[in-house]
Amino acid sequence: MFPEQRPRRLRSTPAMRRLVRETTVRPRQLILPMFVAEGLSEPKPIGSMPGVVHHSRDSLRKAAADAVSAGVGGVMIFGVPRTHDATGSAGSDPDGVLNVALRDLRADLGDDTVIMADTCLDEFTDHGHCGVLDSEGGVDNDATLKRYAEMAVAQAEAGAHMLGPSGMMDGQVATIRAALDDAGHSDVAILAYAAKYASAFYGPFREAVNSQLKGDRKTYQQDPANAREAIREIELDIAEGADAVMVKPAMSYLDIVSAAAEISDVPVAAYLVSGEYSMVEAAVERGWLDRERTVVEMLTSIRRAGADMILTYWAAEAAAWLD
Ligand code: PBG
Repeated sequence: MFPEQRPRRLRSTPAMRRLVRETTVRPRQLILPMFVAEGLSEPKPIGSMPGVVHHSRDSLRKAAADAVSAGVGGVMIFGVPRTHDATGSAGSDPDGVLNVALRDLRADLGDDTVIMADTCLDEFTDHGHCGVLDSEGGVDNDATLKRYAEMAVAQAEAGAHMLGPSGMMDGQVATIRAALDDAGHSDVAILAYAAKYASAFYGPFREAVNSQLKGDRKTYQQDPANAREAIREIELDIAEGADAVMVKPAMSYLDIVSAAAEISDVPVAAYLVSGEYSMVEAAVERGWLDRERTVVEMLTSIRRAGADMILTYWAAEAAAWLD
């Protein structure tokens, strides 16, 4: 009898396929990144990210509540301030756009979801870098850490449950952990962007935050060609006190997600970034891809690679499909 092995047997009916399916994606594993812009009275579409908006203070509250009702596990908030300066001072101002939004969300949602904040300066600086600059125009690691510490405490005070330091400065997790603990916020968790690559896939995000950046982030974000340094970054962040670690972007870095899942004893997140979102949306718009099938396949692949949670602009929509 040939063939002796017939793997198709386990694919023969929907019930059989359901029975042997290994990987699942649940809404609670999805985190919705959201943008809140200062001075808006109405939400404003982001051209490069169809379906994603700059929220006003009020529309953010409503959209976040809707996402929580849809079952998402958390929301990650990015602030888009009206004014920028050299040290990104609006980032640590209690009345800055991001901190005001965090306070609103914590008042509305309490502990019903995990409220996360991007802890980084690039949205707030007039040069668009993730840190403060030294006299030669380079990013000054240790001066930046001081700013991250101030920002982290302000975000914790505003009500964030979990902070996402995304600037890739050396020592940022240890610095933020110590600052939070000193300020009495030992309960606030850190989701460390541990392996964050200098990626072309952040293109649409830069429009989303009105990025002032000229040049690139290659002196602090990782070279896409390197895997070993991701392991080093992940191990360092865990040693410094990260409660969870993230790999970013996701789809072109599934090998890194898989390696992170192997070595990490804390949960692993992956960020399906703006460019990954926009390229699918563009193809969907042309009728070249089916949105739901494509997105669910991407999310499933990221989970299969080993991620426990996924940041995605499709979180709320996908939660409904997955339910
Ligand atoms: C930096 C930050 C970036 C993203 C998240 N946090 C941009 C960057 O590093 O240039 C990108 C997210 C995305 O592309 O969806 N604060």
